[in-house]
Amino acid sequence: MPFAQIAGIGSYLPERRLTNAELEQMVDTSDEWITTRTGIKERRVAAEGESTSDLAAKAGLAAIADAGLAPADIGMVVLATSSPDLAMPSTACGAIAKMGVACPAFDVMAACTGFVYALQVATDAIAAGRARHVLVVGAEAMTRYIDFTDRATCVLFGDGAGAVVFSAADAPGVRCIRLGADGSGADLLTSGFGAANPPSAEACARGDGYLKMAGKEVYKFAVRVVPEITEQVVADCGMTLDDVRWLVPHQANERITQACAERLGVRDERVVSTIAGMGNTSAATIPLTLDGLYTAGNLAAGDEIVVVGFGAGLTWGAAVIRWTKEAC
Ligand code: COA
Repeated sequence: MPFAQIAGIGSYLPERRLTNAELEQMVDTSDEWITTRTGIKERRVAAEGESTSDLAAKAGLAAIADAGLAPADIGMVVLATSSPDLAMPSTACGAIAKMGVACPAFDVMAACTGFVYALQVATDAIAAGRARHVLVVGAEAMTRYIDFTDRATCVLFGDGAGAVVFSAADAPGVRCIRLGADGSGADLLTSGFGAANPPSAEACARGDGYLKMAGKEVYKFAVRVVPEITEQVVADCGMTLDDVRWLVPHQANERITQACAERLGVRDERVVSTIAGMGNTSAATIPLTLDGLYTAGNLAAGDEIVVVGFGAGLTWGAAVIRWTKEAC
């Protein structure tokens, strides 16, 4: 039975930077509040006309090139997003058209945990022999779903995409995965129009499609679930946290990351933080952060990485991945 290893990785951040100073001019907030409460200094914003599938295609092509492959080699595309181009068709289909890839392609919706869910799908597809090379993308144009008059949410989110090519191999790269969901928390974080929230003229005028969040409840959920699943997935692999080179948590708030690292007893230098420069990029966060580690030359063959996500749904997921590529 083939295993899934990381063969290539890439990312894309839109050029436009939205700083805390600019947000001070838009809503009643301050750089001081945003920095101390969240750790965020700036976030990226997709250009006018640039959609989630555009960001996905740029990151995807970078990952395919890094793997030394051509678009035609990709046998499946799994795209995780909370900010789809449209409700239908899938953002994955938009992305493959832009990449020149022709294969089964679909979206996975698990909010900020989406990349970890998509990782499970890719690993299973490779193990089942359905594809030799699976492209997993996390792509978000979150700012399109944000009300820029709502200071409670508009300071938090940003746009971007990260992508990873997983290829069939004789030894495991993706080693253990844990996923979870609890639908009783579905109302805590919502966004977009759909069958339960149809886009009537009145609903649009009321701003019903914008992202809404019960921040404190989500915060408490995150600091409980992240340490729990991190410990579980590491134990599943027969390891301890001392064996883990890098902890790559979803980046929603620097205080959440710090609290989780503290509970786990993992030293700061092994906990990756990218939130200052990009805010919360939902499903794109984990692959963007992984690519940042790779391009900075901080990943060496044999490194054990734990990625851990949490988000709307509520959903959560963690995976242990052995880095099998050479350093960048
Ligand atoms: N600027 C200034 N003040 C702000 C503000 C902003 N951007 N946003 C909220 N405030 C105010 C609130 O109105 C409140 O004022 P009040 O005390 O007069 O009512 C005060 O700051 C405290 O608000 P509170 O919501 O208690 O702040 P907090 O410390 O909980 O931080 C979050 C808010 C959203 C940063 C925090 O709850 C959080 O990060 N939650 C998790 C979010 C998350 O993970 N989301 C994504 C999941 S993937």
